[in-house]
Amino acid sequence: MRTASLALALTLALQSAYSFSFPAVHSQRVCGVTGASSLPSFRCNAVGSSKTFLKSSKNWEVDHQASLTPKYWGDLARKNLDWFKDFSITTSGGFESGDVKWFEDGQLNACYNALDRHILAGKGDKVAIIYEADEAGDVTEMTYKQTLDRVSQIANMMKSEGVKKGDVVTVYMPMTPDVILTMLACARIGAVHSVVFAGFSEDAIADRIAAANSKFVFTTNVGLRGGKTIKLKQTVDNAIAKDRAKAIVEKVFLFKRTEEEVNFVEGRDIWADELLAKQSTTCEAEVMDAEDPLFILYTSGSTGSPKGILHTTGGYSLYAMHTTKTSFDLRDDDIYACVADAGWITGHTYICYGPLLNGATTTVFESTPLYPDEGRYWDMVERLKINVFYTAPTAIRSLMRFGDESPKKYDLSSLRVLGSVGEPINPAAWDWYHNVIGGGKATVVDTYWQTETGGHVACNLPGIHVAKAGSCRGGTYGIDMGILDPQTGEEQVGNDVDGVLVIKKPWPGMARTVLGDHERFMTTYLKPYPGNYFAGDGARRDEDGYIWVTGRTDDVINSSGHRIGSAEVESALVATDEVAQAAVVGFPHDIKGEGIACYVTLNNGVEMSDDMKKSLKMAVRSSIGPFATPDMIINAPALPMTRSGKIMRRILRKIAGGENEFGDTSTLADPSCVPVLVENARN
Ligand code: PRX
Repeated sequence: MRTASLALALTLALQSAYSFSFPAVHSQRVCGVTGASSLPSFRCNAVGSSKTFLKSSKNWEVDHQASLTPKYWGDLARKNLDWFKDFSITTSGGFESGDVKWFEDGQLNACYNALDRHILAGKGDKVAIIYEADEAGDVTEMTYKQTLDRVSQIANMMKSEGVKKGDVVTVYMPMTPDVILTMLACARIGAVHSVVFAGFSEDAIADRIAAANSKFVFTTNVGLRGGKTIKLKQTVDNAIAKDRAKAIVEKVFLFKRTEEEVNFVEGRDIWADELLAKQSTTCEAEVMDAEDPLFILYTSGSTGSPKGILHTTGGYSLYAMHTTKTSFDLRDDDIYACVADAGWITGHTYICYGPLLNGATTTVFESTPLYPDEGRYWDMVERLKINVFYTAPTAIRSLMRFGDESPKKYDLSSLRVLGSVGEPINPAAWDWYHNVIGGGKATVVDTYWQTETGGHVACNLPGIHVAKAGSCRGGTYGIDMGILDPQTGEEQVGNDVDGVLVIKKPWPGMARTVLGDHERFMTTYLKPYPGNYFAGDGARRDEDGYIWVTGRTDDVINSSGHRIGSAEVESALVATDEVAQAAVVGFPHDIKGEGIACYVTLNNGVEMSDDMKKSLKMAVRSSIGPFATPDMIINAPALPMTRSGKIMRRILRKIAGGENEFGDTSTLADPSCVPVLVENARN
């Protein structure tokens, strides 16, 4: 282990001090060189030149067609993963009954493939993880060998405390290497991790513990982020105090990020650092069936409670590995940094599994883009000589506001690929990312995907495709993407069409089910357009065949790259004593992509005031988490309902967005409520 700062040094690596990091931050738009047809003229310089890239495919169409076959994935799986038992069936099942399987009779272990495999190949001294702690310049590096040692100790500690194959382990931790190591340790012993983003509230943790019947929780005393201390253990204690979680949780493993003292429950809590030190650094990797669960991750839908999306071992591992390699043109000596949080799917696939399965050097970033100032990312890029950087448009937009001076102070010439995720990247942000950050030569890769897809399903591939700012281009390897008419379900063939986005064939990285509710999985993704996976997004295919995602077709809000179900915000509001009814919608927001607007009908006798607005915002924060804080609370004595009693959200979105034209309002039971809402939205 080499340390780049006196402050952190060995102590940190050895005693695990860590904290949490930015939510799903990622952003982008790329310009690669391609063998493909016409170069779009706007905003897309065919930058990077083919020399910059791994290789330029002369014939993407042919390669892509070949990747749509089971043989493609079977060959890759044998070549790129170590199997304890080879598989004889590459794939089976389908969308019709939602029983998709990949490599089902094969056996492997994801952690073994992420660590041991590279060590056996002689890469034990290669840096696996660079930890950029909250204070700029506090950097600790861990080699593959050191990573495996500590993962094995965590795994042995878990076993010694009764964690068994198949148990669900809830992980509520800051962005320090230990969150990644804990995930890998779970994978090593066949436990199923359920990481809960460390910005979620105690209620959200309790819900997830209860839904997954999770007897074990990992946390730290506190987190550090942007110079602030976050009381993670206290939040976990409060979560477990709730009846629905109390009866379930048996053990809480507690790491130390600082020396701050916290409440300690004898018999339930375990000081992980102390117990770890006594564990062997050898732990046999459990033999897992390819279709055994690897993890669950909760995500929001348009209705009901969050869904526990379940990913399995073989298909997910292969897909995470392959997309990391191909979407970012990842090279062996790259320094790779995805500045998301491990609590979201981006952190799972593109901080932990994808890079490590490739034997790459991945960065764990604990801080925020604005700490100590707006140059934090660029300072880090210069110091660590980062080659591949992956963030979200919302972060790019928030940094652009400060102008070009800050990035210009730093040497960013190491950057070769700039990834974007979470929402379409608007042209202004694309240009800034590409030109100011990427020096006009780094490739911006717009990656479209979801928690459910496991990894990227659409992007412009560096060296293969020319990018258009704001378009994720089209299906990547193995992804057969289509656009359907939303009403008839008929495929919209050819270019210049729009509709709903679907994937027409199963791929290895797709989620297999919603934990405990396969019917919900079917109804949400596979039944709306039989024979297809329905992503929940609308899309347009332009005249060059490029796909432009136009946003969710359901009531999911995408705010700062976070997926927030309007139903969840509505229930938080109506759970207060003051609110009789609530309708929550997204509206265009300069920085966040979408802001959260809450129309609330107050109970009789309750008055709207600034204090009331504050308290309702607080109610949402404490029910879900600070990242879901509403941008607007709008007094709504009445909501625009159709005669059949359905709220016309389209109108609410327009009002919140400051529009004055609302289209046809004749189907409203009482159109007179609209001007009142317009007035209230402006106050
Ligand atoms: O609406 C799409 C949007 O984010 C949704 C998935 O959210 P989540 O599961 O939280 O995963 C976020 C990180 C992958 C999608 O349904 N989305 C994500 N990436 C893009 C995007 N929309 C347009 N372009 C993207 N690149």
